[in-house]
Amino acid sequence: MLERLANKHIVLGVTGSIAAYKAADIVRRLREAGSEVRVVMTRAATEFVTPMTFQALSGNPVHLHLLDAQAEAAMGHISLARWADAILVAPASADFLARLRQGRADDLLSAVCLAGDVPLAVAPAMNQRMWSDRATQENIQGLKSRGILLFGPEDGSQACGETGVGRLQEPLQILTQLAEVFSSGALDGLRVLLTAGPTREPIDPVRYISNHSSGKMGYAIAQAAAEAGARVTLISGPVALSPPPSVLTLPVVTALQMFECVVQQLKHTDIFIATAAVADYRVTEVAPQKIKKTSAPLTLQLSLNPDILGQVKQQAPHIYCVGFAAETEQVVPRARIKLQQKGVEMIAANQVGGENNLGGFSSDNNSLTLCTPESEVTLALAPKAKIARELITHVARSYPLWRQTRKASAQILRFGKPPL
Ligand SMILES: Cc1cc2nc3c(=O)[nH]c(=O)nc-3n(C[C@H](O)[C@H](O)[C@H](O)COP(=O)(O)O)c2cc1C
Repeated sequence: MLERLANKHIVLGVTGSIAAYKAADIVRRLREAGSEVRVVMTRAATEFVTPMTFQALSGNPVHLHLLDAQAEAAMGHISLARWADAILVAPASADFLARLRQGRADDLLSAVCLAGDVPLAVAPAMNQRMWSDRATQENIQGLKSRGILLFGPEDGSQACGETGVGRLQEPLQILTQLAEVFSSGALDGLRVLLTAGPTREPIDPVRYISNHSSGKMGYAIAQAAAEAGARVTLISGPVALSPPPSVLTLPVVTALQMFECVVQQLKHTDIFIATAAVADYRVTEVAPQKIKKTSAPLTLQLSLNPDILGQVKQQAPHIYCVGFAAETEQVVPRARIKLQQKGVEMIAANQVGGENNLGGFSSDNNSLTLCTPESEVTLALAPKAKIARELITHVARSYPLWRQTRKASAQILRFGKPPL
């Protein structure tokens, strides 16, 4: 279950509770699960545990001040909120809950919570009387009604010597619930096939033709699809990435190998997402030995590789197909042409190259325009994991409608139009 936390950006807020020391264990476990963690501490929290502890455990500087010119330039409250895939406040003090309820933004943690549009969870920890007080209970009701997730608190003995409800939940329990946040169930029971990364087309035993694709976008989509409940098979060209958890990863090298592997998987597929940057051409005759350098120019003859996405749509029209169009210019118009030519359901248009690094190949960020025959949605520049989840949300929304329409038109073809 905790594997859902892999590659997630978690902002952990720590407030002034006696249980603040337990947040150190939360950071450690988040890192073990593969999350990247940025800790935001309130001033009161620093009285209980030093920022140094969290800096060492998270491997990142700890964020303390809202009105700090330097920190704001580097990773201000807005950037932190944008960076996060989820915000967890553990422990959450009674005072912090009251501020959150009021929508205040006069300290860094409150401001980050207000600026974030990602899942926000609080794990309260306080004296049992403070917890049961009407003021706290009203704050909790208000927070719940705004969709803020509540983890705990637990019943039991307390640091103050009393017994009752108010103890911080155990770190493992908190993280298990946090991992749940990333499971949408939107693709439950569906089988998703993906291609990712570049292909390598050999010239001779030591040289090849390839491209700059890192595979990061495809791997992030594979993970997002698995988290949405799909059974995912990822056919990957050579990349320097670890296979995503809960995903069957099949490595290939050339475009022909990728094509054959895809074809073998088609009968087990409902949705095909082609993110791989497949080489359009391969060397017609691969030299059996290393080609020796001479003073004469060298000419390589190239043959066209199969169009994997186009072939899949032709061979298996019942599969919902998503393609990627990586372009350096005229990105959306070219994506629209590809959408029509290949007859697929969606093309994600992807700007690559250019001086202002808008994302694309090898970057950790990306922006996409999702083109379907009926619509065009732009996903603003964000970490690839976030873009991947948004893309999966769009696919999950449009897939059932597409299937229904396909079934209806198949029926009209078989039986003719029903009488009005
Ligand atoms: C020793 C000590 C322990 C405390 N433990 C808690 C606690 O567990 N929960 C809580 O809500 N407040 C606790 N407080 C009170 C908070 O630290 C205080 O309300 C503070 O303003 C919270 O600030 P913050 O929400 O900005 O972190 C404690 C105070 C002291 C002195």
